[in-house]
Amino acid sequence: MNKELMEHIKRLKEDKKALILAHYYVNDDIQEVADFVGDSYYLSKLAMERPEDIIIFCGVSFMGESAKILSPNKTIISPNVDAKCPMAYMISIDKIKEIREKYNDLAVVCYINSTSEVKANSDVCVTSSNAIKIIKNLKEKNIFFIPDNNLGKYLSTKIKNKNFIFHDGYCPIHKNVSKEQVIKLRDIHRDAKIVVHPECNYDVISIGDFVGSTSEIIDYVCKSSQKEFIVCTEEGILYELKNKNPEKNFYTVTPYQICNDMKKITLENLLRSLTNLDSQVLVDDGIKVRAEKALKNMHELAR
Ligand code: 13P
Ligand code: SF4
Repeated sequence: MNKELMEHIKRLKEDKKALILAHYYVNDDIQEVADFVGDSYYLSKLAMERPEDIIIFCGVSFMGESAKILSPNKTIISPNVDAKCPMAYMISIDKIKEIREKYNDLAVVCYINSTSEVKANSDVCVTSSNAIKIIKNLKEKNIFFIPDNNLGKYLSTKIKNKNFIFHDGYCPIHKNVSKEQVIKLRDIHRDAKIVVHPECNYDVISIGDFVGSTSEIIDYVCKSSQKEFIVCTEEGILYELKNKNPEKNFYTVTPYQICNDMKKITLENLLRSLTNLDSQVLVDDGIKVRAEKALKNMHELAR
């Protein structure tokens, strides 16, 4: 870690009265300089509720865009505009229209990992930490869950009184973790608990001792008396897990649990964007109003 650069960023952030938010998957040094680190829902809530007018959002683009939609008067900065979640682009507006025509009594529920345009065409957004609560409380019987197939299937096992229509989007990083690999690792670490993000394949979810969002996984590990954990999510989460639990051991399943887009946020581009206040997030006005409704519905129903 470049301590000098980190100190420079911290001073500049104070001078400019800017807030740095970071997701658990970004590089360790970015998590270290951030004011708050969290899961998608927590960060979205903070961006909306905090008083600072300048927010540097260290994560993938849908996170900064959601913050801008909910707080149009704040300056939201994405240090690297090329950091994009590939899953966000795996659903088309035509597909949403097609399903809307086929079903009555339908709610289009979109995972926050989606473009602003997709949100604008959805009824409500969810994250992995609030989806069960929100969907259970929707009045509609039919739920078109987009874009993540794995999360949708997992939710359908938890909510029995809805008819789910799934889409075929996925996170390439979580999809790459296989049940066979997890079992092999557990054969070596027989006492280890398996913690799983619900973007993983359902067969991995089905052998998980705990399934939840990044924050929920961290809470579970912190409260557990167990000493070893097999981690089925992106490796950036290890920074917080190890910081909070130095006496516990963590094993990732493969060396490839890395979201290259989250890692595009670096100390260098964070410093540049904080200095120049460039890379501001902008959302088309027409899209903003409709996407705001889906995001506001999420915050209301998750309360
Ligand atoms: P969380 O909401 O659990 O932080 O997940 C975000 C994400 O992108 C997972 O891949
Ligand atoms: Fe998207 Fe997967 Fe990266 Fe999360 S880990 S931002 S879902 S690509």
